[in-house]
Amino acid sequence: MPTTTWNRHHILSLADFTPTEYNAILQTTASFQEVLSRRTKKVPTLQGQVVANLFFEPSTRTRSSFELAAKRLSADTLNFASATSSMTKGETILDTAKTYLAMGCDIMVIRHTCAGVPNAIATEMDRLGERVSVLNAGDGQHEHPSQALLDLFTICSIIDPVNPRLELLKDKKIAIVGDILHSRVARSNIWSLTASGAELHLAAPPTLLPKLFADYVNDSGVSELNGKRKLFIHWRLEDALRDADFVMTLRLQKERMTAHLLPSLREYHQMFGITRAKLDWCKPNVKVLHPGPVNRGVEISSDLMDDPEFSLIQSQVTSGVAVRMALLYLIGSGKAV
Ligand code: NCD
Repeated sequence: MPTTTWNRHHILSLADFTPTEYNAILQTTASFQEVLSRRTKKVPTLQGQVVANLFFEPSTRTRSSFELAAKRLSADTLNFASATSSMTKGETILDTAKTYLAMGCDIMVIRHTCAGVPNAIATEMDRLGERVSVLNAGDGQHEHPSQALLDLFTICSIIDPVNPRLELLKDKKIAIVGDILHSRVARSNIWSLTASGAELHLAAPPTLLPKLFADYVNDSGVSELNGKRKLFIHWRLEDALRDADFVMTLRLQKERMTAHLLPSLREYHQMFGITRAKLDWCKPNVKVLHPGPVNRGVEISSDLMDDPEFSLIQSQVTSGVAVRMALLYLIGSGKAV
């Protein structure tokens, strides 16, 4: 493993991540990718530690990816799904978390439909003087740090597979297209991708991309990074895609839509769906990302999604395990048993 100093105890948001921290994650992930390419894909790093996956909302890839990452690090894993838990009997979220704490849990990976739940649990653990770390696996419309970090790793390692690092993205043009309003993935990527010096262009119909997103980065109170970030919003897809190096498309999150924000899915696909024809606006070797799950034929055409020349969707899932190993390692290695 590379020698890095890591001081962060919880990972809840990327808003105040430093370039040094991003590079520590990218470097550590590259080392774990090497481990995952071996015949024996397991290391004893977190032996004796307990990682609990507390998912209060459905998930396929994030939950499985965290579970596999913890197992590859030899941690003991506990999986919780709210539908089959004592929450159905009225137990509160904090009492559920304290139950896992009492079993000796070292790291809690938390997903919840409400923004702020991982922060609330982390605050309570700190108040109690407990050493347990909390990792946000997606909270409402707030943030999804591990997804943005795996997106960052996927993009950097396409440019330099041997030494993926933040500086590689300086002056690249990256577009994020789709349901930005409801997306925690976009809200985390806004931090990581602008910290890299890339130009980040958001595109969606106005109902899914309010103007205030233009101020999201610079009015955030993260003063040391103000002014150095390049974030643009567009209501016309072509403006965002022109000469782009990378295009990330996002799912229309119907479960979070409380009003009729689009005339029809057909019209949305025509105007904002990513297809091979629309990629003609981009750089010739453009690559396409999507965090999944995908509505085929809505935010991306089915053939493009499966086209290995353009699509990085499967690599994102593969990188996800190594990135989450890196996160568990970095926050877990200070907790030797
Ligand atoms: C995303 C999520 O849950 O926020 N998916 C994921 O974690 N891979 C995006 C989505 O649900 O559309």
